[in-house]
Amino acid sequence: MTASFLTPLPLIQAPMAGVSTPELAAAVSNAGALGSLGIGASSPDQAQRMIRRTRELTDKPFNVNLFCHAPALRNTARESAWIERLRPEFMRFGAQPPCELHEIYRTFINNAGMLDVLLAERPAVVSFHFGLPDSAALLALNQVGIITLACATCVSEAELIASVGINFIVAQGEEAGGHRGIFDPQARDERLSTRELVRAIRRVTDVPVIAAGGMMDGEDIALALATGAVAAQLGTAFILCPESAADEGYRATLASERARRTVLTRTLSGRLARGIANRLTLLPDQEEMADYPVAYDLAKALHRIASQQNCQEYAAHWAGTGAQRARPMPAGRLVATLAEEIRSAQRQI
Ligand SMILES: Cc1cc2nc3c(=O)[nH]c(=O)nc-3n(C[C@H](O)[C@H](O)[C@H](O)COP(=O)(O)O)c2cc1C
Repeated sequence: MTASFLTPLPLIQAPMAGVSTPELAAAVSNAGALGSLGIGASSPDQAQRMIRRTRELTDKPFNVNLFCHAPALRNTARESAWIERLRPEFMRFGAQPPCELHEIYRTFINNAGMLDVLLAERPAVVSFHFGLPDSAALLALNQVGIITLACATCVSEAELIASVGINFIVAQGEEAGGHRGIFDPQARDERLSTRELVRAIRRVTDVPVIAAGGMMDGEDIALALATGAVAAQLGTAFILCPESAADEGYRATLASERARRTVLTRTLSGRLARGIANRLTLLPDQEEMADYPVAYDLAKALHRIASQQNCQEYAAHWAGTGAQRARPMPAGRLVATLAEEIRSAQRQI
């Protein structure tokens, strides 16, 4: 298929905080691709438990993914205004919004507790989203032989990643489900397609590129490899696997006609992300909303209340533009199917 990737198959199951599980990552790794855990929203203890559980299920390499966003800028006035903006939505369910919001998880930057877990557990691969870790953490991970990946949404982010010695660049196109990995959420987002971005990054660096965004079958992957990517990272394609943590509401929405419409929105979490359109994603983006991930605290509270009344209109149903092509099958079988489809597409390219 292709040489020079970490696993026999040039395929990564994307880290998906809240959706990927040890069972999913292990099944993917056991099938010859690279499984991933998304621990960006986990405490060090939770992360350690997930890594250890994955190790019980596979002796193959897997990836552990961290968030490297700037810490939230707390602003009580803005947060109160955001609570008030969503108050009418809570009232539709006879509920009141919380009085205050919390920074529900910490960045990996200068996060000694999380670094200690990684150094103790030594997963084969560690990847970063929303930016880069502090240089001391990166050095420590390098020194114990961990392979590193970081996500870029544009050429200048890719150049930064290359300059600090990260081993692979994940080129995340605008088709991708979940959060845009853009480093500075205030900067202009170029929103290049996966294909355009892979090509643009390859022009400026020799660091191998992994394509991410909108790929759902082996033909999509073969095309990305033909563009010069060494592997493809697929997230949405794995959400309907029985091993994922997606709940029934998420699975039903993804399997329905609604999966035809995904949108990029800030209103759920405070950062731009692609998900299946619903009432909350379609609220106009607010200039003055709470910062990431503080805004997410409010959206999660609203979804909890709404879903108790069987309403999924406030859910973070992250999904890429290929959502309507998601296939419900066990992860090992999905990986084998993708591998066969890649081979068959490559015979025709
Ligand atoms: C449900 C979901 C959760 C995600 N969570 C993360 C995450 O925790 N860390 C990360 O680096 N990327 C995350 N992503 C983005 C993926 O890494 C990847 O860029 C994306 O899934 C590729 O696009 P696709 O979903 O169209 O395959 C997430 C994507 C989805 C769909």
